[in-house]
Amino acid sequence: MKTPEGLNDKQKDQYQEAWLDTLRTFIFGAKTILFFVFAALLYIPLEDDIKNLFKEKQEVKVTTNRSTEKDEDYDRVENGIHVQTGFVVAPGFDEVRANCTVCHSSKLVTQNRATREGWEQMIIWMQEKQGLWDLGDRKPIILDYLSTHYAPIKKGRRDNIDIAEVEWYILDLENTD
Ligand code: HEC
Repeated sequence: MKTPEGLNDKQKDQYQEAWLDTLRTFIFGAKTILFFVFAALLYIPLEDDIKNLFKEKQEVKVTTNRSTEKDEDYDRVENGIHVQTGFVVAPGFDEVRANCTVCHSSKLVTQNRATREGWEQMIIWMQEKQGLWDLGDRKPIILDYLSTHYAPIKKGRRDNIDIAEVEWYILDLENTD
């Protein structure tokens, strides 16, 4: 190392000492920076693992709960009625569930009643106007199912009175001769 001209020995020593100090500080700084760079490089590929280390337990629990609840609901049947859709469980149920709950609620199906021809008309209408696909072999199965379990109810009595349509009249109790 070169020391400036015209210094006595003590001054030269002091100069060198000061210079070495600067060098040490610089090396320490460089080491610190390198440490963080390596830490960062190590962290990037392990990022997911490190995060999972803290998350894993909680997440696993949540997913197990959710999936068991869903599975139970998905196939639960009470009194012959599939709970989630309200469909009667009988031959054809699987085909109807698979094809008739895609665009609308199963309630739209279960609240309707029709003869086999009536159901076929609705299916044809949905195929022509609503983009319902060709049901192929499943069509007779679906029609059998619908016309068996959602047939028109035979009425043993008159229709309910439609209150809004009735013309009410006032009883005149005083002139009843
Ligand atoms: C591609 C979509 C789609 C599929 C699949 C579908 N529907 Fe529909 N369906 C509709 C649309 C759209 C309507 C009209 C909905 C509305 O009025 O809100 C409808 C209405 C209905 C109605 C009510 C009709 C009325 O006159 O009020 C019934 C019943 C019905 N669908 C039964 C079925 C059955 C049974 C199947 C299975 C074979 C089925 N749908 C599959 C689209 C579909």
